[in-house]
Formats: sequence, structure tokens, C-alpha cells
Amino acid sequence: MKKIFAANWKLFKSPKETREFFAQWSEAFKGSKNEVVFFPSAMSLEAASTSIQKINAGYDLSFGVQNAYFQAQGAFTGENSAAVVKELGGKYVLIGHSERRQLFAEKNELLADKVAFTQGLGLVPMLCIGETLQEREAGQTKSVLKTQLTAGLAKADKVKTLVVAYEPVWAIGTGKVATPEQVQETHKDVFEILSTLGFTAPILYGGSVKPDNAAGLIQIPHVDGFLVGGASLEVPSFQKICSAI
Ligand code: 13P
Repeated sequence: MKKIFAANWKLFKSPKETREFFAQWSEAFKGSKNEVVFFPSAMSLEAASTSIQKINAGYDLSFGVQNAYFQAQGAFTGENSAAVVKELGGKYVLIGHSERRQLFAEKNELLADKVAFTQGLGLVPMLCIGETLQEREAGQTKSVLKTQLTAGLAKADKVKTLVVAYEPVWAIGTGKVATPEQVQETHKDVFEILSTLGFTAPILYGGSVKPDNAAGLIQIPHVDGFLVGGASLEVPSFQKICSAI
């Protein structure tokens, strides 16, 4: 199966920096069967869209937005429209990143509406799930993930495309990557929960993925790619991660 290597740029990179990044992005993956996806900040989406259109990639190169509301337009001050992402040629909407859940108090019910709306527009939701350190230490990882998946996918279409990103909260931006054993066990759990709910979806791992741990992690069963934060901001390190397999 193809792998998906996704870059989450969070609130980094202006439009100018985005254009500079893509000017450096080489054609190293021509003919690759894997997919590379960028999630720039909303205000740099158009710069990313224009830059990506100029690259004659020869493989699946796409982009999406880090968050979008479940309405295309209206009186929703400060929100992003997935319909605009579609107009710009985007493919994905990242939904329920732990920073959205923790810093912006997004709840599973809201995320379920976003997943359904995204699918309805013909875009692909990438639903993020993950446990906190406290939950892992209390042995609650599987039940937390089950709740997040069950509630987050409550309104999702089982036939339409979906991607899930498992990101243990304690591994995000901390340099503390989950051990191969933890990744293997948890991805298997996520796969089984998804199957029970009637979904098939690639499952990406995220949390301190770096050039030096990517090759090991990508070999683990049910690891179908990565969602990369810090190490996706520089061309050389992200290209190394995208070359992990
Ligand atoms: P880091 O790779 O910086 O740990 O971030 C992971 C992440 O949050 C990707 O969405």
C-alpha cells in the first residue's frame, strides 16, 4: 500500500517562506507511489497551492488546511472554509489535532460535523486522535482512542475516503517518540477499532518523527505514513523522512 507523508506546519511559514520552501523542494520523488501532503497555515494556503501547481511532481503531491468549519460560508468570524480549500485545489482537511482539542476546546461532536462536512464536499478528512500521558499511564489509551474514533466518526460516510492520524499528545513537539512497541500495539488497536466501526483508513503516526527514526517506524505494521510537525519545516529533513521507504 502507498504511504502518506504529511507535513503539519502549524502556525509557521508566511506566504513568502512557503514559496521559498517549495522553490527548494526537489523532484527527488518522481515516480514514487507514495503521497506527500502539506498542511500550511491558512494564510499561506494560496501560496502553497500556487507553488505546488508549478511543480511537475510526477507523484501524488497535495495539500490541505489544518482546520475548517462545518459550513462553507456564513457569519463565522475567524473560521476557515473547506469550500475555499477545494477551490484552491486542496485535498485534505486536518480535523481534531490535539492542539485544536486542547487549546481551542474542540469536542468530538464538533469534529464529527467537520468530518461529515469535509467528506460531503469531496475532500478527505484526516482525523487526529491521541491520548495524553496521564491517560496512557492510567492504562486508558485504547478506550480514549475508541471514544475519539466512535464519536468523531459518528456522522462519517464509510464509503468515502478517510485518513486517521494517531498522535500521542505526550510525543508531540517533545522529542519523546513512542517506542516501536507502543506504536505497533496502538496502531493495531486503532486498526481494530476502525474495523469494528466499519471503516478502512490509512493510519498515520505523528509525534517527534525525525529523519533518524522514520525508517524504523515506517516498517511497523499498520503504520501507513506520518504526520510530521517540526521536522517538516526544513526541506532536507522532510525529504529524508519522505524517503524512509
Ligand atoms: P512534531 O513532529 O513536532 O512532534 O509534531 C507532531 C504533530 O503535531 C504533527 O501534527
